[in-house]
Amino acid sequence: MCGIVGYIGSRSAIPILVNGLERLEYRGYDSAGIACLNGQRESLFVVKEQGKLARLKEQLQGFDLHSRIGIGHTRWATHGVPSRDNAHPHQDASGRIALVHNGIIENYAVLKKELQRKGVKFHSETDTEVAANLIGHYYKNHSLEEAFRKAVLRLEGFFAFVVLSAEEPEKLIVFRRSNPLCLGIGEGENFIASDVTPLLEYTRRIIYLEDDEYGVVSRDKVVLRSLKTRKTVKRATVHIDWDISQAEKGGYPHFMIKEIHEQPQVLSAAIQKRLNRRGNVYFDTLSPGMDKKLKRIKNIYLVSCGTAYHAGMVGNYMMGKYARLPAEATVSSEFRYEDPILNKDDLVILITQSGETADTLAAMREAKQKGAMTLAVVNVVGSTIARESDAVVYTHAGPEIGVASTKAYTAQLATLAFLTLYLAQLKGTITKKELKRMIAELRKLPAAARKVLKQEAAIEKSARQHYHRRNFLYIGRGYNFPTALEGALKLKEITYAHAHGYAAGEMKHGPIALIDHEQLVICMAPRSRTYEKMLSNIEEIRARDGMIIAIGTEGDKRLEKLADEIFCIPKTEEVFSPILTVLPLQLFAYKIAVFNKRDVDQPRNLAKSVTVE
Ligand code: M6R
Repeated sequence: MCGIVGYIGSRSAIPILVNGLERLEYRGYDSAGIACLNGQRESLFVVKEQGKLARLKEQLQGFDLHSRIGIGHTRWATHGVPSRDNAHPHQDASGRIALVHNGIIENYAVLKKELQRKGVKFHSETDTEVAANLIGHYYKNHSLEEAFRKAVLRLEGFFAFVVLSAEEPEKLIVFRRSNPLCLGIGEGENFIASDVTPLLEYTRRIIYLEDDEYGVVSRDKVVLRSLKTRKTVKRATVHIDWDISQAEKGGYPHFMIKEIHEQPQVLSAAIQKRLNRRGNVYFDTLSPGMDKKLKRIKNIYLVSCGTAYHAGMVGNYMMGKYARLPAEATVSSEFRYEDPILNKDDLVILITQSGETADTLAAMREAKQKGAMTLAVVNVVGSTIARESDAVVYTHAGPEIGVASTKAYTAQLATLAFLTLYLAQLKGTITKKELKRMIAELRKLPAAARKVLKQEAAIEKSARQHYHRRNFLYIGRGYNFPTALEGALKLKEITYAHAHGYAAGEMKHGPIALIDHEQLVICMAPRSRTYEKMLSNIEEIRARDGMIIAIGTEGDKRLEKLADEIFCIPKTEEVFSPILTVLPLQLFAYKIAVFNKRDVDQPRNLAKSVTVE
């Protein structure tokens, strides 16, 4: 939610800021803006535009201010409609400072009234302009650093800021509380961004800000201090080795389709990283001390949002069956308000691509506070949830840019499968022979995924037939009930058509009333324990004239006869089937979105990283 960038150094700031915003646009695209110091006149130059970054870029064409310092923002609207006035950067009334912000200032209304009583006039509906003016107010009698500190101490909520002053052109001030912000450390230049993707083409040396820390960033130095005590904080840089080409489209029309096709490779990497020389499952980030604690665990909660929640649901089935532990999957926004009864025997697994999702972060903090052990399954290395959880395992999917999650999901499923086997190994609930067999099955997945994706042309043909529909139903059972939910989520988020995922066994308890000759039902029916039951559900839909697209196992003649269309996965262990069955659904949603000319990578109203609750 909102991407922020900053630069200070000896290069021209505007191209670096725009480049950074391009990489962060997936975080929000309601408006964009930059502020930099006008080199010659030591005044602020602010340009902002409603809509996507492309419009800002048009405005900036031909400008070269020789500015060596600046800040930028791409917005996902919280307070105030998407408009030019509400776009960041915001300035204080004097116009001396400019500020970009990601997050929510909860007490902004009270502060706004206070400032209005002092005669400050506001030009936007945002909470951000209040912060800019509060800093401006203290700036009358204090240095920028002190004015910033005094102002932020009065703010309630969760936010990250970067501030620039025309009067102190040799520094930027940065701050974070719960919302992400990191610094890229260069030679004679420093970079700031909401996540590492904009930084990696300039430097691999990253500093992650911790909560309630602010930093004074100059060309040659970064000084971090605690907001409360002003004490200097020492923080080592972290080396990030993500391949930057993974954050490029690489010849594909959209990130989403590129990321769909990266899945075989992502699975291969996930598998290689999880097996040691003796062929046992291992996690490089889990210490022997951690293993001891994991052995004692009695209950598991899998907590996550959106697509990651669907991964959690699959994990729930996996862990119950193989690690023989009672497990429960919950959405983060519900978990923390359920007042869960937790103690040290409970393991709370947080699943998140970004590692920054506000609801999941809050759930993790709640779980920790109640004494449970927390383990994060995260893609973004060094993200807040990865750093704050008691233990972390990475999914190694590489940067995912498309707002609709694809490769991060299958990487989560693979990681949860390994985590399940790891727990089963620790608890002795799996025999060596069985473990070996399961690992051999896992090893087949990359090739199997490649085979499934080869059906792209056939799936496109099917999507061409169905793209005008406004109503889709997805059903599944057991391990593939979450796949039905995920297929429906994928479709609705990028096509804006209504799609509903349902447990197939529940059809007769209500939804079957929807079925007529116009209703298309996508049925998950790979070979499994519930295969026969699933076939009965399909028969029931056929009997009522419903149209059927089935996702089944190769060579299934019975299913072929029952379905209007069929897409297949190679034979695999039931527990791993969701890793394959989701692939045709991703392609189907993508193709339908393209036929409908939707903005696939940046669907309306969404943002990649949801850092507000
Ligand atoms: O970064 P996270 O995995 O925590 O994000 C969770 C959800 O916001 C995310 O999966 C969302 O549902 C995706 N847009 C789905 O494609």
